[in-house]
Amino acid sequence: MGDSSKLKRKPRQRRCLRQLTSLVGISLALYCLLFVYSPPQLDNGTTPWFPSRPSSIRLTPELLNNLSLREDECKAAFLGLTKEIDDTVAKGPFTIKKSGHLGPVQGRIKDGQLYIIHAQRRSDLSQDMLNARTAALHQLHRALLTSPSPLPDTIFTLNTKDEPFGTALQYSRAADPSMASKDPSTRSLLIPHFAFWSWPLPFITSMRHATTSITALEASYSNQWHSKIPRAVWRGTSWYNSAHSPRLRQNLLAATRNQPWADVQTLNWTSRGSGPDGATAHGKTATNALDVSEFCRYKYIIHTEGVAYSGRFPFLQMCKSVVLTPPILWMMHTTHFVRPVYSGVLLGRDKKGWKPSERARRAWGMGVKPEEANMVFVQGDWSDLGETVKWLEEHGDVAEGIARRQRELVADGGYHSPAAEACYWRAAIRGWASVARTEGDGWEELGVPFEAFSLTLDNEA
Ligand SMILES: *[C@@H]1O[C@H](CO)[C@@H](O)[C@H](O)[C@H]1NC(C)=O
Ligand SMILES: *[C@@H]1O[C@H](CO)[C@@H](O)[C@H](O)[C@H]1NC(C)=O
Repeated sequence: MGDSSKLKRKPRQRRCLRQLTSLVGISLALYCLLFVYSPPQLDNGTTPWFPSRPSSIRLTPELLNNLSLREDECKAAFLGLTKEIDDTVAKGPFTIKKSGHLGPVQGRIKDGQLYIIHAQRRSDLSQDMLNARTAALHQLHRALLTSPSPLPDTIFTLNTKDEPFGTALQYSRAADPSMASKDPSTRSLLIPHFAFWSWPLPFITSMRHATTSITALEASYSNQWHSKIPRAVWRGTSWYNSAHSPRLRQNLLAATRNQPWADVQTLNWTSRGSGPDGATAHGKTATNALDVSEFCRYKYIIHTEGVAYSGRFPFLQMCKSVVLTPPILWMMHTTHFVRPVYSGVLLGRDKKGWKPSERARRAWGMGVKPEEANMVFVQGDWSDLGETVKWLEEHGDVAEGIARRQRELVADGGYHSPAAEACYWRAAIRGWASVARTEGDGWEELGVPFEAFSLTLDNEA
């Protein structure tokens, strides 16, 4: 009896073993399929972006300066450019509220024409605020005029202040979902910064101008990473902090004082000439400012956000340099191309229990590996800035790789080109129009044609 049952069991065991083997095999294959061959996942489930352009698309200077690319050409040339728009549109429809004469600009697009429904009086705005508003409306207008196909009619709200406010086309949104508006109906649809039109500071000028100078400067190094300045550079205003990181800049000054690896200076603002413009951006300059392209001479660039986003950020993304920043809190329209490695990972502290802050993890997850990164997130109190620079100096290949991936992705990828900007604005208008709704009365008024508004910059033309 015992013998026969043993005999019976044997083939069953063999079958079991075979099944087990194939099960293990299938699981292994599945595992490989899911984990080994998939792009590395950030902890928060967002897949980092690996653009690979169709080989038929060549980013020639003609293409990058062409403001009239078709929607399909835009998508093929600038993969992933509209991620912020797509994510916002995916949240579904929302209702536009009237902003009144103290709120952001509201306008209308009708039959390809731009109208201003209401706007703050120019006398109520500082020169900087007026500049930002004027720039944004012209950027929008340019994208309309150069559109190769009709854009949908819509009514829009445009907030050109530094801080995001309510539902609007605006410059930034909080990277950490828990810092965003608690009202689920609030939407931020990000727009390119006014620097893509013009930033009237002598050391910045505009993205188009800076792109040319940065490209010339980077070419002059002909990939000789070791000949860049091996220090971390920063210029800024020390008091310009945010409520979220109140002592960020003072702490930076303290952490870098008299350090041989740092070239950190607070800007020494002066007013050029006198007269009513003396206090405005037109007349302002700083004696120790660096031209925005000159930052790319340094291997390391320290980035600080201000009250909200920093308008310099898109410029720093153009350099073949390692940007060192506390985890970014404010997303601009191409910040999603950042693939950060945390300094704690570079320094091997993650193996000893170190973790990014809760806020950083909510916004950026666990980051990526050094060999995939294009930026470095340091501790928010700058406590490991010096060690991180030292580590990068000792690991020149890793440092150069991080710098190279940033420039290859953002600059060589043409994401800050005039063509990409026009593509982006049109995608933003299409996206906004597809989910924005108006309710009730008060929207009958067509508004002042932008052509008339642009002469008076008041909508009581
Ligand atoms: C710009 O792109 C459009 C759409 O492809 C094309 O028709 C036009 O000829 C291009 N213009 C220039 C100057 O290359
Ligand atoms: C700031 O600029 C003023 C005027 O050019 C100069 O007198 C002063 O020494 C400068 N201060 C610093 C810290 O560079």
